[in-house]
Amino acid sequence: MLDDLEKLKAGFLSRISSADSLPQLEQARVELLGKKSEIIGLLKGLGKLAPQDRPMAGKAINNLRVAVETALEQKISTISRREMVERLEKETFDITLPGRKAGEGGFHPIGLVMEELIDIFAGLGYMVEEGPEIETDERNFKMLNFPDDHPARDMQDTFWVQNGARLLRTHTSPVQVHAMEKYKPPFAVIAPGRVFRCDSDVTHSPVFHQLEGFHVDKGINFGHLKGSLELFIHRLYGVDTKVRFRPSFFPFTEPSAEMDISCVMCGGKGCRLCKGTGWMEILGAGMIDPNVLSAGGIDPEEWTGFAFGFGIERIAMLKYGIDDIRLLFENDPRFLGQFR
Ligand code: PHE
Repeated sequence: MLDDLEKLKAGFLSRISSADSLPQLEQARVELLGKKSEIIGLLKGLGKLAPQDRPMAGKAINNLRVAVETALEQKISTISRREMVERLEKETFDITLPGRKAGEGGFHPIGLVMEELIDIFAGLGYMVEEGPEIETDERNFKMLNFPDDHPARDMQDTFWVQNGARLLRTHTSPVQVHAMEKYKPPFAVIAPGRVFRCDSDVTHSPVFHQLEGFHVDKGINFGHLKGSLELFIHRLYGVDTKVRFRPSFFPFTEPSAEMDISCVMCGGKGCRLCKGTGWMEILGAGMIDPNVLSAGGIDPEEWTGFAFGFGIERIAMLKYGIDDIRLLFENDPRFLGQFR
C-alpha cells in the first residue's frame, strides 16, 4: 500500500506542477483534496483495514495530503508572483493625468446673511450668545412675562419635548434670560439661531432662524432703540433706507413696537413686493419689561434696556430676491450653487 501511495503522490505532484494558472490550480485543488478526491476516499477506507494496520496507513495518507497541500501552496505563490510581475511590466500609469476634482462647496444664503448680521452688530459693540434650542417653559415663556394661560402662548404654536416643561424654543428671546443670568449689566448681546413653531404652510416653515438683540445699561431709552436699529438698517440696506415705528404688543417689552423699512425694491414708491404701501415690516422691538429684568435678577429701578428680534429668512429673501421660503430648506444644489 505504501508503494501505491508513493505512486499516487508522484502523479499528484506532476498534476500540480503542470497547472499553469490560478484557475487551473484551483481545479487541481478540488480534484486532489476535495470531498470526492482519492485522498478523502482513502481516509474513509481506513475503517476497513485491520486495526493494527490503521495507524501506519493513516499516517501515510496524511503525509500524502500534507505533501499535496504544500505543493499547491508553493505553486500558487509562484504563479501569483509571476502574474504580479507580468502586470507591472504590462500596465503603465499616466501620472500626468489630472485627478477628478471634488465638487466645490458653497455657503447657504442663511449662513451668509447671518455672518453679515453678526459683522454689523459686532461693529456696533454687541457680543454674540447662543442659547440652547431645547428650552424650559420657564425661560421661553414664564420669565418673559407670558402669564400661564395667556393667549400669546397659542400665538406661538409650541413643539413640546416634555409636556408643559420642556419645549423647542419658539423664539430667540429666552437668550435674554440666559444672558441676564450669566452677565452683570451693562451688556449688549445678539443671539442668532434656530427657532421652532409647529405651523407649516407655503410661507411658514416649522424651523426658521431669528436674530435677537438687546442692550441693558443705565438710562437706556426708546431713543437708543430707534437710533441703534436705524444704524443697523443703514449698514444692511444702505443709508437711503427709511425706518418707521408702529405701536405693537409683546408680553416681554413695554412699550412695544414694530419697525418698518422703506421697500428695498421700489425705495418707497410702491410695488408688488410692498403691496403698494412703500413699506415693509421687518422686526419687533421694545423696552424690556421691568418684570423680565426682575426675573433675570436685574433691578429695573437701576437698569433699563431695549430688545428686538427678527426673522433671518425674510432678510435673506429680500437681499437675494428669493420669492419662495421653501427654496431655503430644500437645499437643491442648483439653487445653492448660485451662492458660491
Ligand atoms: N420674540 C419676538 C417674536 O418672536 C420678537 C421680539 C423680540 C419682539 C424682542 C420684541 C423684542 O416674534
